[in-house]
Amino acid sequence: MEIKLLLLCLFPLASFFLQCNCHCAASKKKGTAASGIRGMFVFGSSLVDNGNNNFLQNKAKVNYLPYGIDFPYGPSGRYTNGKNVIDLLGEQLQLPGLIPPFADPSTKASKIVHGVNFASGGSGILDDTGSFLGHVYSLTEQINKFEEVTLPELEAELGCNSTHLLSKYLFVVGVGGNDYTFNYFRPSLNGSTILDQGFASNLTNSLSQHLKKLYSLGGRKFVLMSLYPIGCIPMVKSFKPKQKFCLRELNLGVRQFNTQLKSTADAIKEQMPGSNIVIVNQYKIIMDIIKDPSSKGFKDAKRACCDLIPLSEGGNGVSCRKGGNVCGDRNAYVYFDGLHPTEAVNVHIANKAFSSYLKNEVYPINVSQLAKL
Ligand SMILES: *[C@@H]1O[C@H](CO)[C@@H](O)[C@H](O)[C@H]1NC(C)=O
Ligand SMILES: *[C@@H]1O[C@H](CO)[C@@H](O)[C@H](O)[C@H]1NC(C)=O
Ligand SMILES: *[C@@H]1O[C@H](CO)[C@@H](O)[C@H](O)[C@H]1NC(C)=O
Ligand SMILES: *[C@@H]1O[C@H](CO)[C@@H](O)[C@H](O)[C@H]1NC(C)=O
Repeated sequence: MEIKLLLLCLFPLASFFLQCNCHCAASKKKGTAASGIRGMFVFGSSLVDNGNNNFLQNKAKVNYLPYGIDFPYGPSGRYTNGKNVIDLLGEQLQLPGLIPPFADPSTKASKIVHGVNFASGGSGILDDTGSFLGHVYSLTEQINKFEEVTLPELEAELGCNSTHLLSKYLFVVGVGGNDYTFNYFRPSLNGSTILDQGFASNLTNSLSQHLKKLYSLGGRKFVLMSLYPIGCIPMVKSFKPKQKFCLRELNLGVRQFNTQLKSTADAIKEQMPGSNIVIVNQYKIIMDIIKDPSSKGFKDAKRACCDLIPLSEGGNGVSCRKGGNVCGDRNAYVYFDGLHPTEAVNVHIANKAFSSYLKNEVYPINVSQLAKL
């Protein structure tokens, strides 16, 4: 097959009869799922990390039970009980398998042709976010690894110039929450910290530089996950036991960020001809659950499903205790640990992202439409 195509490309006369699209176009078509998408490159933090932190020196690992208790392969480094939103989006896109984590040494050769995940729990848009946890891949580092390691490997694997290749991949970016929880509002989700609107602008400005970089490398289809209402996560209660429910300042920061994310996306689309950017409004999707859990099949939207390590024992308000107790009816809980949603919520988000027709849930088109463009 490969040799035949090479011959066709070398002999224009033969290609005249046999309609040569050249090697690149052929290999591009070969591995594309019915959805129109060949794979996903994933960047961001723990909500989309699928095991990178297992291989890094840091204190943000979840490679132990009860994490992964409902995942087919057990604990994998996913920050939830089962599949994360990327796994579920991949299913919707009918990709042939799970996307491998970059830091796993076995992620190479044919394993990368449907994409690679670079996300790292604890990281943020800003380079120093989460650095107190040890080595987490910042967004800058994630994109550098994509450019310097994965892209040449992918070109070699597919025998194709990436400029012509990457338009068939989704570039999914889910990042920013930790810039608030693990940076701006650190060390204690300090609600008396004066919230500066300029911080959200700084974050979205920085994010837009990263997106332009991915565009310059060939990325054309982007999916951005907005921040979810992190003022409402169980972690807040660990730091502020008297807090009845959501921490206003944090949600305010999140909303500032999300508003700017949308205007930034609209603005940079103009500067990136041929690109499309879809924003998944996780804030609304999760808030709708939190406001009326039972209408969406949930019973508990406040507590973590797992037993958290208390602050007094050195916990961070997020992590489940190793081998600790876990709730029985995990589909009824919104949060698995102090920060991350359960698989049941991830299913909800992935379904909305893929097929919602509401612009206040996925904007301006859904991922199913994006895939077919
Ligand atoms: C890849 O394609 C682009 C656009 O057609 C071109 O500018 C670039 O030189 C090509 N790179 C290689 C390594 O062939
Ligand atoms: C919270 O922030 C305020 C104002 O920035 C500061 O004075 C106070 O010390 C902080 N408290 C904690 C516990 O970090
Ligand atoms: C935004 O970035 C500028 C330039 O780096 C910096 O001076 C300013 O303090 C930042 N603002 C906030 C709120 O972080
Ligand atoms: C996506 O959005 C379009 C337009 O609103 C809608 O027709 C379609 O049903 C949605 N879902 C899927 C899976 O395409």
